Amino acid sequence: MGRTVISGGTVVTATETMTADVLIDGSTVVALAAPGIHSWTEGADKVIDATGKLVLPGGIDVHTHMELPFGGTYSADTFETGSRAAAWGGTTTIIDFAVQAKGQSAMDGFEAWMKKAEGKCAIDYAFHMITGDINDQTLKEMDMLMDEGVTSFKLFMAYPGVFYSTDGDILRAMQKAADIGAMVAMHAENGIAIDVLVEQALARGETDPIYHGIVRRSILEGEATSRAIALAEVAGAPLYIVHMTAKEALDAVTAARDLGKNVFAETCPQYLFLDLDNMGNGFEGAKYIASPPLRDRAEGHQERLWKGLATNDLQIVSTDHCPFCMGDHPTFGTQKQLGVGDFTKIPNGMPGVEPRMELIYHGGVSAGRLSLNRFVDVMCTTPAKMFGMFPKKGTIAIGSDADIVLWDPTGTKTMSVDNHHMAVDYSCYEGLEITGTVETVISKGQVIIADGEYHGVAGDGEYIKRGTSQTLI
Ligand code: URP
Ligand code: ZN
Ligand code: ZN
Repeated sequence: MGRTVISGGTVVTATETMTADVLIDGSTVVALAAPGIHSWTEGADKVIDATGKLVLPGGIDVHTHMELPFGGTYSADTFETGSRAAAWGGTTTIIDFAVQAKGQSAMDGFEAWMKKAEGKCAIDYAFHMITGDINDQTLKEMDMLMDEGVTSFKLFMAYPGVFYSTDGDILRAMQKAADIGAMVAMHAENGIAIDVLVEQALARGETDPIYHGIVRRSILEGEATSRAIALAEVAGAPLYIVHMTAKEALDAVTAARDLGKNVFAETCPQYLFLDLDNMGNGFEGAKYIASPPLRDRAEGHQERLWKGLATNDLQIVSTDHCPFCMGDHPTFGTQKQLGVGDFTKIPNGMPGVEPRMELIYHGGVSAGRLSLNRFVDVMCTTPAKMFGMFPKKGTIAIGSDADIVLWDPTGTKTMSVDNHHMAVDYSCYEGLEITGTVETVISKGQVIIADGEYHGVAGDGEYIKRGTSQTLI
C-alpha cells in the first residue's frame, strides 16, 4: 500500500475541524499537517485530492445482524454482501451479534459466528454476544468471551420463548458483567405485557402489519428501560439500551445519566426518519416491521430523539440492520411474506447498514440539528469508545487505523433500491433526496470505494478483539 497523502481537505473529528493534509503509511495515519508545509506528495505512492471535501473517520455501526436466523428464516445480507454495502455507505467497522440460542453454549455460538464471518468481510468487524440462555455455564463462558474480545452482552426483555430473559436472569448476568468489566446491552420492551396485547389484537382479527406498531406501546419500552436501569444499578453494571425509539425510554435514560449513572443509549435512522404511518397501507407495512416499532410522529418521539442526540442524552446512531426481503430471497426463500394474514409471523427487522451515514448527515448536519463534530461523535468516535476500540478506530489521529471517508457536503442522491448494495429488494427511504454523500472510502489505508466502484475483496476486513468500554464514569 505504501504512503498515501490526502491533501487539502477539511479534516473533521469529534472535537476539531481543520484544513489539513493527512499522511498514511501502510494501514496507519502517521501525520497531519497544514496543507503544503511538508513535501509529502513528492515521495507518495498515492495522492488523493480532497479539496472541497470533508475528511471524516470511517463510520462505525455497532448494531448489525448479518445472516441472523430469526423468525423462521435468515436476515438477507451475508457478512460478504452486508459488509460491502456498509463500505458503500462510508462505514468501515461493524459490530455484529453472535448468538447463543436456548440450550446452546455461548462459546459455540461465538465460534459459529466467527466462522460465518471469516474471509468474507469487506471491512473490520467485531462481535457482541446475545446471551439467550443465562445459566451457570453461560456465566462462566462470559469470562472466556471477554478474552476473545467480546466485551458486551445483549439481553432481551422482549421475545418470550425466543431470546427473553427473566428479571432474575438479567440480574445474574448483570452481576457477572459488573465483575468482569463487561457492558450489558439491553433490548428493552416488556415482552410479557406485549404478548397479552398481541393475543387480544389477533382475537379481534387485527392481523395487518400496522397492529405490530399499535400493540408494542411506547410506554412498555419506557417501563422496560426504567426496570433495566434499576437492575443495572443493583448489580453495579454499565447499561447500554439498544435501538431506542420512545420518548418515555429516553426520559428514563436522561434521568439516570443526570444522576451520574453509567447508562447509555443508541437510536437508529429508521426511528428518526420514519413513523407509524409507514406501517399502514396493508401488507406493504411489513417492510417497516421491527421491534421496537416505528412510533406515532404526533406523539413527539422523533424530535425528542434528535434532540437527545444533540445534547448527549443519546450517544450513538447504529442501524440494527436486519433485512428481510418482501419477495423470495434467492437462498433463504420466503421472508416477510411469512406473515401474510398474521403480523406476528413477519420476521422482525429492517435494512439500513448502507444509508446510515448519509441519512444522519442529511437529517442532522444539513438540516441544522447536529454540528459536524457531533455528527462524527455519534457515528464514529463514541461508538469506538463505547465498545473498546478507540483510538485505533473512530478518529483521525497519529497512530489510528487509516479508516477514512472523503465526503462531498454538497453531493446529492436519491435513495432507492435501484442504487443500493444491500441484498434486499426494497429501500425504506425510496425516493428520499439527500444532501451530503460518500465519495471515497479508505479502509486501513486501502481505497475500497472510489469513482462509483468497489475496489476491495472479501476478506479485507479483520476481526477486532475489543477492549472494555472507554466511556464509563
Ligand atoms: O426487529 C429487530 N430489531 N430485529 C433484530 C433483532 C433485534 O431485536 O435487534
Ligand atoms: Zn433487539
Ligand atoms: Zn438488533
